Amino acid sequence: MTQATDKDRVWIFDTTLRDGEQSPGATMTHNEKLEIAGLLDEMGVDIIEAGFPIASEGDFKAVSEIAMNSEHSVICGLARANFADIDRCWEAVQHAGKPRIHTFIGTSPLHRAIPNLTRDEMADKIHETVTHARNLCDNVQWSPMDATRTEWDYLARVVEIAIKAGASTINIPDTVGYTAPVESADLIKRLIAEVPGAEDVIFATHCHNDLGMATANSLAAVAGGARQIECTINGLGERAGNTALEEVVMALKVRHDIMPWHTAIDTRKIMHISRRVATVSGFAVQFNKAIVGKNAFAHESGIHQDGMLKNAETFEIMRPEDVGLSGTSLPLGKHSGRAALRDKLNTLGYEVGDNQLKDIFVRFKELADRKKEVFDDDILALVTAASESDEHRLEIVSLKVTCGTAGQAEAVLEMDVDGVEHQATAQGDGPVDATFKAVRAIHPNAARLQLYQVNAVTAGTDAQATVSVRLEEDGVISTGQSANTDTVVASAEAYVHALNRLAIRREKSGPGTDTREISYKDVH
Ligand code: KIV
Ligand code: ZN
Repeated sequence: MTQATDKDRVWIFDTTLRDGEQSPGATMTHNEKLEIAGLLDEMGVDIIEAGFPIASEGDFKAVSEIAMNSEHSVICGLARANFADIDRCWEAVQHAGKPRIHTFIGTSPLHRAIPNLTRDEMADKIHETVTHARNLCDNVQWSPMDATRTEWDYLARVVEIAIKAGASTINIPDTVGYTAPVESADLIKRLIAEVPGAEDVIFATHCHNDLGMATANSLAAVAGGARQIECTINGLGERAGNTALEEVVMALKVRHDIMPWHTAIDTRKIMHISRRVATVSGFAVQFNKAIVGKNAFAHESGIHQDGMLKNAETFEIMRPEDVGLSGTSLPLGKHSGRAALRDKLNTLGYEVGDNQLKDIFVRFKELADRKKEVFDDDILALVTAASESDEHRLEIVSLKVTCGTAGQAEAVLEMDVDGVEHQATAQGDGPVDATFKAVRAIHPNAARLQLYQVNAVTAGTDAQATVSVRLEEDGVISTGQSANTDTVVASAEAYVHALNRLAIRREKSGPGTDTREISYKDVH
């Protein structure tokens, strides 16, 4: 039996780069989008929704380039229900070996009121736009946005129209995360049973997580007959996010006994892509997040550890290796050499070139001098810091911070700007505030600090801190990360990293062109 005719095969449609990226603050750079698309392709994602080509020049370029580079996955772009969107989408995805156009319109009463269309007018529009998309591309997906709040008779009517006009995938979005599992299953079951032509298309489920039910709703939809799940890595997405890819995939794998459906995902690639998405989006994964959270496989209480030592299955329903966590985590130390470091990086999912290895090795030695044992998480933080040291205009030369007892602190900073060294002294409410003020004294800017987040990478007072900073200036968002055993130094580096990226994005795109040309409010 081929995969296409296998009735138990569930297609994984990843929308991290479209629905995920439209989450405020999760903006990724062009190269980051290409990297994530490459990882999705490699892990066996069937369809990658690479972006919304008409939204901006940047989205268009990213979707086009992802389409040109895709090896296995279908590459899909999003388009509203108008010819200009659909043409632009086709222009971008046509380069893919397997292109798809995904066009949508809001069909619930609230959404119909926005363009002020009657039911009949909207039905005609759906017919016209799906036909237009189908004339350009063999593979068309259609979505009635807010399907779960659309009247049953109207939903059935427009789904039939889209099928007749040539859509081969009908996606049923729960746009506001309103539905519940039993409803989700029933809706798909009823559409398949009652809409003429339904047996010839694939039904997809696209759930948002506003009530924390996205994973359950997606799996219920599959039980009702859906065979495509739309999801994102780490559940990234607007508001409470989308269905998390790692959750539905692992649920289908671990509970195959009661959910006899399968995907083509190589689950051992999950951890690596999860970490990369967390880093490039600046959205850290919560520690107790299912599957990919730092604590998902940690067993700290005495009773758990005792059970685990006797039999891992006592408290583990899946093996860490199944999601790409190495079972053992032997720390490196200051005597470990380059070969051991490369070996460790490979185990963690990184293939690094000689130059990158050299860079990481220098950082590793510096860290090993300060810290007795260097754990996997320390290495991951180093890789992130090394890969972030891209082009830069600003570079910290030295930083000295003195803290007073009343919370006041003073930072003395030396920083290179375009190769010229500057110095500033600033006082602030604590060491981080003083340091950021010193950076602004040397490099005045109007960027607003949207997020400042510190995490200890490992346990112990000598642990590295990873710091994430998100800045916003004139609608342009940039994130910066750094790791250091000194939290203030990591904070300064992360701040300067975000400022560098902001400056570079602005130089490359020219004023104003980096922001979305259309609002994503048109989508959600
Ligand atoms: O949530 C939603 O309805 C969407 C559509 C564009 C499919 O993201
Ligand atoms: Zn969505």
